[in-house]
Amino acid sequence: MSEESKYVLEVNDLNTSFFTDAGEVKAVNGITFKLEPGKTLGIVGESGSGKSVSAYSIMQILAETGRVTGGEVKFRGENILEYNEKQMQKFRGEKISIIFQDPMTSLNPVFTVGYQLEEAVLLHTNKTKEEAKARAIEMLTLVGVNEPESRVKQYPHELSGGMRQRVMIAMALCCEPDVLIADEPTTALDVTIQAQILELMQDLQKQLGMAIIMVTHDLGVIASMCDEIMVMYGGRVCERGTADDIFYHPAHEYTKGLLRSIPRHDNMDEKLVPIGGTPINLLNMPEGCAFCPRCDEAMKICLTEKPEEVQVGEGHTAACWMNIKKAYEAQEV
Ligand SMILES: Nc1ncnc2c1ncn2[C@@H]1O[C@H](COP(=O)(O)OP(=O)(O)OP(=O)(O)O)[C@@H](O)[C@H]1O
Ligand SMILES: [Mg+2]
Repeated sequence: MSEESKYVLEVNDLNTSFFTDAGEVKAVNGITFKLEPGKTLGIVGESGSGKSVSAYSIMQILAETGRVTGGEVKFRGENILEYNEKQMQKFRGEKISIIFQDPMTSLNPVFTVGYQLEEAVLLHTNKTKEEAKARAIEMLTLVGVNEPESRVKQYPHELSGGMRQRVMIAMALCCEPDVLIADEPTTALDVTIQAQILELMQDLQKQLGMAIIMVTHDLGVIASMCDEIMVMYGGRVCERGTADDIFYHPAHEYTKGLLRSIPRHDNMDEKLVPIGGTPINLLNMPEGCAFCPRCDEAMKICLTEKPEEVQVGEGHTAACWMNIKKAYEAQEV
């Protein structure tokens, strides 16, 4: 056993690439974060910024061409990247669970909902078949599925989108994991159901004491439930801080652009401005700042040198040369 860590999960300098016919796609480029038990980390960024690949790297469920090329993923102080597939099979679901972006990817269409929940319980616990059956119904009740006794006999396609998402949550939580990774758990749902599901996740978090990683491209939806938010671009971390830091004191040009492009209570009169340019080509990562080609404030150095994360407030950092310049100028006067 390794030393007990204050953090349930620590990711250090994680790098993941896909080795394709076209070349090496560098999807995750040095992600670092720490997560305390019971806390919620939000990961936000536009499509293709490496959010799902980061999650899959942690769970070691990458596509065949994908490989973690560097870094560590420590669960309670132990580097799980050193685990073999057998160890990982036991680990997944029991210690860290994931809710996928699309519920149909993890619900098997040819088995009933009850069967799938029971199998998950049987795989990770010593429960008997009868006990697993009872647990399946208990979990469905917990996530607010009505008439769970008859729902267990239904197939995924017989359920509405909201119900399927609840079943997914039940499946992810049936073995009471220490960490839940929710990859855009509500994107496919309409706004009222979205709010219900998020509330449900927060209730379950309080009851079970688990930590949550909430992955989204919609900052507004999750902000209120996160203790920390990490903004990603091009597989790197641009900025991290509390929801207040990110919303009211954004320090990275990408975060500022992101905020200008979404409706907020204080910009209702203004026109929404999308971020210009196109997302970067991960086959050919720029030498300097990944966001530089789309940044209105870019300087010469941004082209050639990668900015380090610097502190701009307590627990608030940004990787942007503008802040480094400002800090330098402040020192000079
Ligand atoms: N199997 C794969 N082969 C090659 N490239 C891949 C593969 N899977 C993902 N990628 C690339 O990795 C990058 C990051 O993808 P990822 O799915 O993590 O984005 P994301 O931030 O989750 O976006 P979204 O908001 O659309 O879900 C993308 O550019 C994607 O094209
Ligand atoms: Mg994704």
